[in-house]
Formats: sequence, structure tokens, C-alpha cells
Amino acid sequence: AHFVHDTQGLAGSVHPEATSASGSGKFNVALLGAAGGIGQPLALLLKQSAYIKELRLYDVANTAGVAADLSHIATGARVTAHSGAEALGTALFGADLVVVPAGVPRKPGMTRDDLFNINAGIVRTLVAGVARYCPAAWLAIISNPVNSTVPIAAEVLKAAGVYDPARLFGVTTLDVVRARAFVAEATGAAPEAVTVPVIGGHAGVTILPLLSAAVPQPRLSEAEAKALMARIQDAGTEVVKAKACLAGAGSATLSMAYAAAEFATSCLRAKAGERGVVECAYVASNLTSSPFFASPVELGPGGIARIPPLPRLSPLEQAGFAAMQEELASSINKGLEFAPSTM
Ligand code: NAD
Ligand code: LMR
Repeated sequence: AHFVHDTQGLAGSVHPEATSASGSGKFNVALLGAAGGIGQPLALLLKQSAYIKELRLYDVANTAGVAADLSHIATGARVTAHSGAEALGTALFGADLVVVPAGVPRKPGMTRDDLFNINAGIVRTLVAGVARYCPAAWLAIISNPVNSTVPIAAEVLKAAGVYDPARLFGVTTLDVVRARAFVAEATGAAPEAVTVPVIGGHAGVTILPLLSAAVPQPRLSEAEAKALMARIQDAGTEVVKAKACLAGAGSATLSMAYAAAEFATSCLRAKAGERGVVECAYVASNLTSSPFFASPVELGPGGIARIPPLPRLSPLEQAGFAAMQEELASSINKGLEFAPSTM
């Protein structure tokens, strides 16, 4: 196995893998922010995917080493390296799925919204590249604040005339992964067998785990349900605090890579024609009055096939739903206002 190190960008040439891989059941996946804390373990997990034909690693620098390392793993996915803005085109051209963990992470004491000033511009630039080089790709945004970066992505795609809400996702899988892990702890069930829908958004009170719809059903008093809900809402901060003493600090990377690999795999399975694939994600939605809302979505070959109605909420969850509205709306508006005003 070998990797290709692209330093020339598109430069008027046609990328050798320009044709879409769809139809073969194998796809081209571009990972933007691939040399980072999430990017590297996520690339390791995706290198093992039977659904991936080519894995394009893009970052501002340092993708060659990551790609060289991964290319020695004896699995079928071909790994290519694309470093620097001039290489964005070759990373994206012909991509079927684009996963974006590019941007700065939180340090202790910060909220996700504190990342807006840096990450909003990064997401806007990268999504403009998606609009230009692979407008039909599915796009999965990990970069925080997700509640705002997804609306930014939607506006950039709209401005380029290529927006399809069925193909734009904010990745909230980590909230579900955590909820499953914590419910498994509380019930003694195998984590693999636990399901918990998590709705709303991806920050603090906007993260609303529906413990009343969890399977198996944890038997919790109101106080215990409140405490478990709060732990899921604050789990990102729990990791940020625990990593405070690490050099450079930062937020969840390994659990996020696991979660993103699960989400990406579900996207590729649905693209390959598998039916009944359901993942929670933060998407354009008519379920509530919020224009973007996370909930379980059913994926099909063309993206979101259906957004099922929400299950009945418990009184505690109804209170949580009401409590998130103001923050969710203001994060969405902040994203919507940013994109066009500064393009
Ligand atoms: P990191 O700093 O370790 O890695 C980020 C990478 O992005 C770096 O390699 C950096 O070079 C790269 N990057 C920066 N600007 C770029 C650009 N313009 N183009 C391409 N790459 C660029 O950070 P991390 O820990 O990997 O976290 C990345 C992001 O993911 C953060 O915003 C973090 O808050 C977010 N995050 C989201 C979730 C979620 O559940 N959605 C979970 C964890 C982290
Ligand atoms: C998480 O939930 O772990 C991420 O959103 C990162 C963070 O800042 O908490």
C-alpha cells in the first residue's frame, strides 16, 4: 500500500479519482482537520471501513505523516494526504462524504460558543470548498459550536446554490454514545444493547437525552433522572476538565472519533442502499419551531429519508425542551447572521 501526497492542488488538472465511487458500494471520504486530536483516531477507524475506497486526509499541515503511517495498515481503503489551502480541491473533488473536525477545541472555563470567533470562519471556508468541488457530497460537521456551525454551512451552500438539507448533518452521535454508556452503567445492561434518543442541539442545556425512551428502560427516581440528564449534558465539560493537565489540554477526541466513525459508517451504509439506518443528528427540521434540531433521522441513499416524530416526553423532558429554546434559537441566529454578512 502507498499514499499519495498532494502538494500541487488542482492546478487545472483532473484528479485521478474524480469519478464518484457510488455504485460500487465503496465511497470516497474526505476528512477535514485530519491531523488533529479527533482527526487522527478517526482516520485510524475509517481506514478499517469496508465502505471506503479512498480516504482523503486534509489539514493545514502534517497530513503526510498521518497518511504514511495509516497507509501501512493492511486494509483496502487507499489513504491520500492533502496539506494546505491549495490542496483542498484535490481532497474534496469526487468526495461522497465529507467529515469536518477542523477547528479549535475548548480549554477549561470556555463554552462551546467561545469557539465561534475562530471556528465559524474555518467552517465557512471549508464548506465553500465543498460547494465548489463536491456539491453533491454528504457533509457531517463536528466543529463546535455545532448549533451555529451547521446553520453557517447551510447558508454557505445556499449562497452557492447547492444546498440540500437532506445531506447536511451536525454530528451529535457523541451525546448518544455517552447516554448509552451512562444508562448501561445505571442499568447493568450491555452498552451495545442500549439505545437512547438525544434531541435538541449540542451544547449544555440544548442536549436533551430522552431517558424515558431509553431501551432498556432505566428505573430512575426523578432526582436520579435529573442527575443523569445533567451528566450527559455536561459530559463534554467533564472531559475538558479531566484533560486540563495534559500538554495543550483540549476536549474529547477518542470518544468523538468513535462516535464520528459510527455516524460516518451509518451514512455510507445508507448510501450503499441499506434500509432502516437511523442516527441522531442535528439537521434542518420541521419537527419543532426550531429550524435546526437534533433527533433520530432515518437515512436513505440520498441523505435524510424521513425524520420520525418525537416520542412522548416525560414532564422532566418537557421542561428540558422548554429550557433549551432560547439558547438554541440564539446560536442558530448567530450562525445564520455570520455566513452571508461576511462572505
Ligand atoms: P485539534 O486542535 O486537536 O484538531 C483540530 C485540527 O483542525 C488541527 O489539526 C488543525 O490544524 C485543523 N484545522 C484548523 N484550521 C483548519 C482549516 N482551516 N482547515 C483544515 N484544518 C484545520 O482539535 P480537536 O480536539 O480535534 O477538535 C476539533 C473540533 O471538534 C473542535 O471544534 C471541537 O470543539 C470539536 N468537537 C466536537 C464534538 C462533537 O460532538 N460535535 C466533540 C469533540 C470535539
Ligand atoms: C464534546 O461534547 O465533548 C465536544 O463538544 C467538545 C466540548 O467542547 O465539550
